Amino acid sequence: MSFPLEDVTQRFSQWKPFRDERAYVMGKKIGEGDFGETFEAFDKATGQRVVVKSLFPTYGDDDFQHELKALWAIKTGCVDNNVACLIDEVVQGGTRYLVMEYAPGHTLQHFVAAFPTWPQSKQNWVARQLFHAVAYVHSHGLAHGDIKPNNIMFDQQTGELTLIDFGVALLNKDCVCGDPACGCDGGMYTPEFPVTAESADVFGAALTLVEMTTGRYVGQIKSYAKRVTSPPPVPHNQALIDILWPALVAPQGLTAATLEGLIMGLQVS
Ligand SMILES: Nc1ncnc2c1ncn2[C@@H]1O[C@H](COP(=O)(O)OP(=O)(O)O)[C@@H](O)[C@H]1O
Ligand SMILES: [Mg+2]
Repeated sequence: MSFPLEDVTQRFSQWKPFRDERAYVMGKKIGEGDFGETFEAFDKATGQRVVVKSLFPTYGDDDFQHELKALWAIKTGCVDNNVACLIDEVVQGGTRYLVMEYAPGHTLQHFVAAFPTWPQSKQNWVARQLFHAVAYVHSHGLAHGDIKPNNIMFDQQTGELTLIDFGVALLNKDCVCGDPACGCDGGMYTPEFPVTAESADVFGAALTLVEMTTGRYVGQIKSYAKRVTSPPPVPHNQALIDILWPALVAPQGLTAATLEGLIMGLQVS
């Protein structure tokens, strides 16, 4: 089920955190970025392993609310759509924490570094799940805003992929990156020409997957001029590269759902 965007603000304003810090046992720190810290934790009542994320005090309540609001908007159905689900929001010692489902495994960045060559069918399976997750987010009117290997979890045991980190999600996927009102900030995995936030996600996913497929550092193909003048890189998984490459050169014409559909035609395991 998806919520029309105009509904999100109203529904969100009615949502109240329903647990307090006594409901969770805090575990080890599993991440620290520019904006805040992420810990593993456990639900005392059920034993469920969760992830709690806080923002550094230098960031205001608006930034916290932003991620919460984006996660809230996509939370119905996220469990079956390769996206980490919002579970709760807690306040502990004056700090607010988001509580999310724990996605087992490691980041895709870890796997690309550890295993430069993957079986093609596994690459196709990762690609299909990533575009599925992105299409799911877009179907709610939002864009993720920061698709990159470090924001994607992969579980080698089950083969399941989970998209995480909605800290800079765009609440309007149609806004144009470069427009200050959009908030799409143009990191490593976004194109250097203006596109919608939706297309920037498609580009970021394609670039992430090209990196996985080729083991090639993305800095080398970030340049638009290099992409259009050079042939697609290393035919290690030519069928997948043939699908991904157009998304790097002209992402405006392609949706995540279209790419997911094209990848469905490839062998997976
Ligand atoms: N739902 C999750 N399940 C498992 N690990 C997670 C989850 N969310 C975050 N992490 C881990 O914490 C790290 C930082 O979280 P992230 O949400 O990307 O925050 P940041 O804004 O600091 O990049 C991730 O790279 C990942 O290793
Ligand atoms: Mg992150």
